[in-house]
Amino acid sequence: MTEIYSAKVWDHVRNPRNVGSLEDANVVVQAGDPTCGDAVLYFLRIEEDIVRDIKFLIKGCGAAIATSSAATELAMGKGLDEVMGLTDQIIAQALDGLPEEKMHCSNMAASALHAAVEQYRATVAGEKPR
Ligand code: FES
Ligand code: FES
Repeated sequence: MTEIYSAKVWDHVRNPRNVGSLEDANVVVQAGDPTCGDAVLYFLRIEEDIVRDIKFLIKGCGAAIATSSAATELAMGKGLDEVMGLTDQIIAQALDGLPEEKMHCSNMAASALHAAVEQYRATVAGEKPR
């Protein structure tokens, strides 16, 4: 039988990291893929342009669960410029790759993180005195 998913993908499916919601989140974003109907909700606590905490909830396929989970690990503790640089390819690489037809699942995680940074920059960051 050909393996569809890597061992790392299965590890994240069985034991997703940072699942749940964050009571003290200052950014909440949702991203979805209209073609499959899957959706992810990210909760972030961003302070001084650093991701201090991040959690997610999801309704999605195995690849969506694994990539959303891996994306929280890639974003945790990182500066916002670095988070903006996270691509679907980088997230997939952190899982030792994904089948081509499942790359759109990692794109959901990347676009949600980018939207979170944009939301923070447009709202929370803008509230600070200059
Ligand atoms: Fe079935 Fe995403 S809708 S796996
Ligand atoms: Fe929809 Fe994976 S099939 S995100």
